[in-house]
Amino acid sequence: MEKKYYIKTFGCQMNVYDSSRIADMLKKEGYAETNKQNDADIVIFNTCHIREKAAEKLFSDLGRAQLIAEERANDGKRTIIGVVGCVVQAEDEQIIKRAPYVNFAVGPQMYYRIPEILHNIEKDSKAESVIDTEFPAVNKFDFLPENKAQGVCSYLAVQEGCNNFCTYCVVPYTRGAEYSRSVEEVIKEAKRLIATGTLEINLLGQNVNSYHGEDESGKERDLAYLLHKMAELDGLQRLRYTTSYPADMTDDLIACHKDIDILMPYLHLPVQSGSDKILKAMNRRHTAGDYLRIVEKLYAANDKLKMSSDFIVGFPGETDEDFQKTLDVVNQVKYIQAFSFKYSRRAGTPAAVMDNQVEEKVKKERLEILQTLLFDYQTKFNQACVGKVMPVLFEQKGRHKGQLIGRTPYMQNLHARTKDDNINKMVDVVVTDATTNSLSGKEI
Ligand code: 5AD
Ligand code: SF4
Repeated sequence: MEKKYYIKTFGCQMNVYDSSRIADMLKKEGYAETNKQNDADIVIFNTCHIREKAAEKLFSDLGRAQLIAEERANDGKRTIIGVVGCVVQAEDEQIIKRAPYVNFAVGPQMYYRIPEILHNIEKDSKAESVIDTEFPAVNKFDFLPENKAQGVCSYLAVQEGCNNFCTYCVVPYTRGAEYSRSVEEVIKEAKRLIATGTLEINLLGQNVNSYHGEDESGKERDLAYLLHKMAELDGLQRLRYTTSYPADMTDDLIACHKDIDILMPYLHLPVQSGSDKILKAMNRRHTAGDYLRIVEKLYAANDKLKMSSDFIVGFPGETDEDFQKTLDVVNQVKYIQAFSFKYSRRAGTPAAVMDNQVEEKVKKERLEILQTLLFDYQTKFNQACVGKVMPVLFEQKGRHKGQLIGRTPYMQNLHARTKDDNINKMVDVVVTDATTNSLSGKEI
């Protein structure tokens, strides 16, 4: 019988991308995908360490995986349990201490070793747990099998890691220092994705706009250059990039939003807080004023452009006044989507030991106020789309017969009654209805 794998992914798009590369490796090893854990010979959790809740979920999932593995063992079936991603990098051997039944745990830079690790485990059923959290001197991308499009929209990792060291964030420790793939490598992967069915590519990086990959002559190139190169590719209909850091929004990059027609009019640019005092304590290299000036320039470059952001409430030392400044930024930018979080204390980061921590109750209240405001702008924008015609890229079937789900240029989910043929196609749709989280429409 064919061997099967099951992967559960937590966290950001970088993890989604890594999971798809792990899936490619497992397919090459002869495994087929299953979405039922009970059927899986190998179960992998790709983990997130960004906030406490994200990390805690892992251990409850691992407990469940062990029970399933025991049941399967009663039926004579072996299950290999693996953990990858940022929790491994942060916890290292603690993972195996807390969950000794885990067969392997590898950090985000070492997952290219999974096939080799599996061979060893398969050879020796009593093999010890493998833990690997090195930051290797090699480029892991060189060791991954060539990937194909997973669908009509693909992520493509162009940059990884972060040198910014925001005082609340674990990423510089879990993902390591910034690294950019070469222009050639990126274009090669993009061509392959397009040749296998992708129409939309989202260039990914923890700090994608600090991209500085080499071109063929060895010259360092920036993200604006890479976007222009991507826009030259035949067959690519939509281009996006995420996530950006405000201080790295160069004028050349802003101009791309005017000059590149396949670049979608939607940008995720996290501000985190609207208070200069808090931004400074967060070690962000921008003030609220700097951020608003960048947004102005972006709106001037493309008047259709809309923004999204990440916010943290209750960072150490945040007063009601500071929080009000965050609301002020929201009222000025009028985000059409946003992610907002209560500050979560992460061991090893400078903010975790600041002595002016904000009470949980206050964090909760502020989050509710912020989210109400954010949802209000999101709903208003969605409602303003009703009656408009938008190109929608249909990605999947809906729950109801004759229904497809796709995305608008603004990343809104749109449900439409339309023929099944339209899947994987860009179709003009008139928006007929809107809620906070999605749109409905029909083909015109
Ligand atoms: N607490 C709360 N939110 C955090 N983020 C990162 N670290 C923390 C933390 N310790 C949020 C930031 C970032 C997003 C990916 O997660 O808003 O932009
Ligand atoms: Fe974390 Fe700040 Fe780097 Fe973003 S820029 S990954 S928030 S340290």
